[in-house]
This record gives sequence, structure tokens and C-alpha cells, in this order.
Amino acid sequence: MKQSMEEKISYRLLIIGLLSMLVTAIVCTAMFHRALTKQVLHDLSINAKDIAAAYPLLPELSDLSQFGGEDIRLTLIASDGTVLYENQAGEGLENHLSRPEIQSALDSGEGWDERTSASMGYNTYYYAIRLEDGNVLRVALDAQDISSNYNDMLPMIVISCIVILALSAVLSILLTRRLVRPIESMADNLDDISNHVPYRELEPFARAIQIDQQSRKSSERLRREFTANVSHELKTPLTSISGYAELIQTGMAKPDDVKDFAAKIRKESSRLLILIGDIIKLSELDSADGEPQVAAHFEQVDLMDVAKECVSDLQLTAQKSYVTILAQGSSALVQADRGLLVELCTNLCDNAIRYNRAGGKVTVIVENNPEGASLTVQDTGIGIPAKHQQRVFERFYRVDKSRSKATGGTGLGLAIVKHIAMLHGAKLTLESEEGKGTTIRVLFVPRKT
Ligand SMILES: Nc1ncnc2c1ncn2[C@@H]1O[C@H](COP(=O)(O)OP(=O)(O)OP(=O)(O)O)[C@@H](O)[C@H]1O
Ligand SMILES: [Mg+2]
Repeated sequence: MKQSMEEKISYRLLIIGLLSMLVTAIVCTAMFHRALTKQVLHDLSINAKDIAAAYPLLPELSDLSQFGGEDIRLTLIASDGTVLYENQAGEGLENHLSRPEIQSALDSGEGWDERTSASMGYNTYYYAIRLEDGNVLRVALDAQDISSNYNDMLPMIVISCIVILALSAVLSILLTRRLVRPIESMADNLDDISNHVPYRELEPFARAIQIDQQSRKSSERLRREFTANVSHELKTPLTSISGYAELIQTGMAKPDDVKDFAAKIRKESSRLLILIGDIIKLSELDSADGEPQVAAHFEQVDLMDVAKECVSDLQLTAQKSYVTILAQGSSALVQADRGLLVELCTNLCDNAIRYNRAGGKVTVIVENNPEGASLTVQDTGIGIPAKHQQRVFERFYRVDKSRSKATGGTGLGLAIVKHIAMLHGAKLTLESEEGKGTTIRVLFVPRKT
């Protein structure tokens, strides 16, 4: 199962909470420890100074015992490090000269240190002061008494930790829920998603959904339009076929006319067949899911062969229209479906002949350019007005319906050309000037492998 965003965020928030608690605890403990050390040393120094004031008046060294106690350890050390007096048993009486607090007391009058006493196993604070007779008086306090402060606080610390933990768990769940809710509600407003984007980070996502929806809608609209157009285009020839057939059937046609009508029926039928053939081709090239259904068979094809085949196929048609057609250029190899390329070239040449004038010329040029191989169909025909140039590749789009229809056109030829070019990743460019002629170029950009 997919990970839940809500769980993930609350989990992370909780971890952040835990970590900050831990860091706070560590920092607080360290600060507390420092403050405590300062306090203890301060107390010890006052204590030591009091004793030092009383020291010259003491008759015996052992009278120092009245100042020490269970907690406070008192040591009197001679300037050579020898221990002269110690109020607590158990402490080793070795030479104390190397102790840092003694050293600095001898040097500068006072000194302190905090260390783990190996002999007692506690953390001990020392404060030492030099006396007037040159001896050093040291007072010490074991950390056991200090850590008892922590022990007093431990239950409080544990309780507050638990409270903080529980609070942050609840808060992180609530917070996450508030973060995630608006995202979930996006799904309820897909139609108007751009106005329901809760976070800036989701804008690209919403935009992608919107674009997808728009393209879905527009392709649906195109399909509907296409169906309407197809029905319309089929209706016209069928109406006249049915009309002529009725005239023959009812005997209203004179015997001389019957042959004529039959010829008209035949012409209309063949128009229908061509139209249906084109529609099938188009729907194969452009299926609903965007993947062409036609099983394109890619192989190495010489564009020059394609051009020559096309030209020879259309030679007769061209002659009938008093148009000369020829292929020129050099051979150019491309990876392509040969049948589809012949179809493409035939459609372009067919237009170039059809929308030409008597005495006109059609040239198919094959070239090897630095940017790729190209096939260009150039004519000296009527041209396409600038405002129509964008649209002639649309299905059923005809500049001059009457002229196109008179020559049997249905407006699907260039749509098929466009789809074949797309299937080959080829670029189509159109240049045309009214009254001068049209040039359509198909550039085969080499595929990156
Ligand atoms: N070489 C050209 N010169 C002038 N106009 C052209 C040329 N090629 C296409 N057109 C214009 O573009 C329109 C669309 O061309 P397309 O080939 O798609 O359809 P068609 O030729 O009318 O019909 P079909 O090719 O399906 O028989 C044509 O009707 C015509 O008006
Ligand atoms: Mg055409």
C-alpha cells in the first residue's frame, strides 16, 4: 500500500519534537550544571575565607575540625605539598603539590578545580586559599550532594517529558490533518481546480490536470465535429445517388439519360469510396489514445525513389490538367514506412496538380540538408491565402469549397499528410503566395537513438 502523507508528516513532526526536547534537555542540564558549579565554588570560597580569618587564632591544628563537617572536607597543606591536617578519614595523605588548585593557590593566593576523585568515586569541587603562614587551606565538596538536586527534579522532568510528548503527538496529528484536508478537497473540485489550489507547491500539479482536462475536452469536441463532418460529407453523394436511382426506378428517366445517370451514380460512389478510404486511413493514423493503430513498418527508404514513384503515378493526371510534373535532387535515406511516404507524397502532388493552372508546373525536390533529409513539393498554382494557411491541415478544411469539390476533394488529404509526418517525427512547413504557388516541405529530423 502507498504511504500515507498524513502519517509521514505527523511522524516527522513527532521526531522533530522529540529531537528538540532532547536538545533542550541537554542544553538545560549543561547550563544548570554550570550555574550550580559557580554557586558551589562561590559558597566554598566564602567558607574557606571564614576559616582563613579564624585560622591564626586557633591554638591547635586539630581545632580546624570545628569548621569541617560531614559534607565539607577540610585539608591543610604545607607549601611543600605535605598534608598537615585532614578532617575526613579515607583520603590518601600523599603529597598534594601536584593538585591544580594547590598549585594556583601557592602561585596566586587562590585556586579551584572540579574533578572526579579516583579515591572516592565522586565528582568533587575544590577551593584552595593561601594562608598568611604560607600553608594552603583547601575545602572540598562531593558532587553526590549536588546530584541529589537532579534526583529531586527527575520526576518533574520525566512528567514534563511525557506531557510534552503527548502534546506534540496530538498537535502533529491535528496539524497534519489541517495540512492534508485541503489537498484531499482538490479532488472534489476537479472542474475548477485552478481556483482550489491550497498550496503554491501544488500549482504545477493543478496546471497539469487542467491542461489534461482541456485537451480531453478539445479532443472530444474535435471528435464530435469530425463525426458531424463525416455524416455531412457522406450525405451529399448518397443523396444524389439515391435521387438518380429513384429517377431510373420510377421510369422518369428517358432511356437515353439512364446511361448518363448510371455514370453519375458511379462517380458519386467512387467519391464515397475514396472518402471512406481516407476516413479509415485517418482514424488508423490517429486513434483515441494518441498511439497510431496503423502498424508502421519502418525501414530504410530513399526519398528519391518515393518521389519518382509518385511522379510516374501522377504523370497521366497531370497531363490531363496540362501540368508538368517532375522529380529532382539527389537520393536521401530516411527511416520510414515506405507505403505511408508514398501516400504523403501523392497527396501533396495531387494538391499541387489540382490547385494549379493550365501550363503550370509541379516539382518534387529531394535534398540532403545539414538538419536532415527533406522532400519538397513546389507548384506554380493558385496559392493559399495567408489567412487559410494555418488551417488547411485540419480535417475537411477547404479554402474554396466549390473548387475543391469540383475536383473531388473532401479536405482530408493534408490532414493525412500531417499525421504521416507526425508519425515519422518529420517537420512540415508551408509557404504560399496567392496567384504564385505553394511550397510544402517535409523535413525528416534524424531521430536520436
Ligand atoms: N498546392 C496547393 N495550392 C493551393 N491550395 C491548396 C494546395 N494544397 C491544398 N490547398 C488547399 O487546402 C485545402 C485542403 O487540402 P486537402 O488536400 O486537405 O483537401 P482537398 O485537396 O480539398 O481534398 P482531398 O485531398 O481530401 O481530396 C484544399 O481544399 C485547397 O483549398
Ligand atoms: Mg488534397
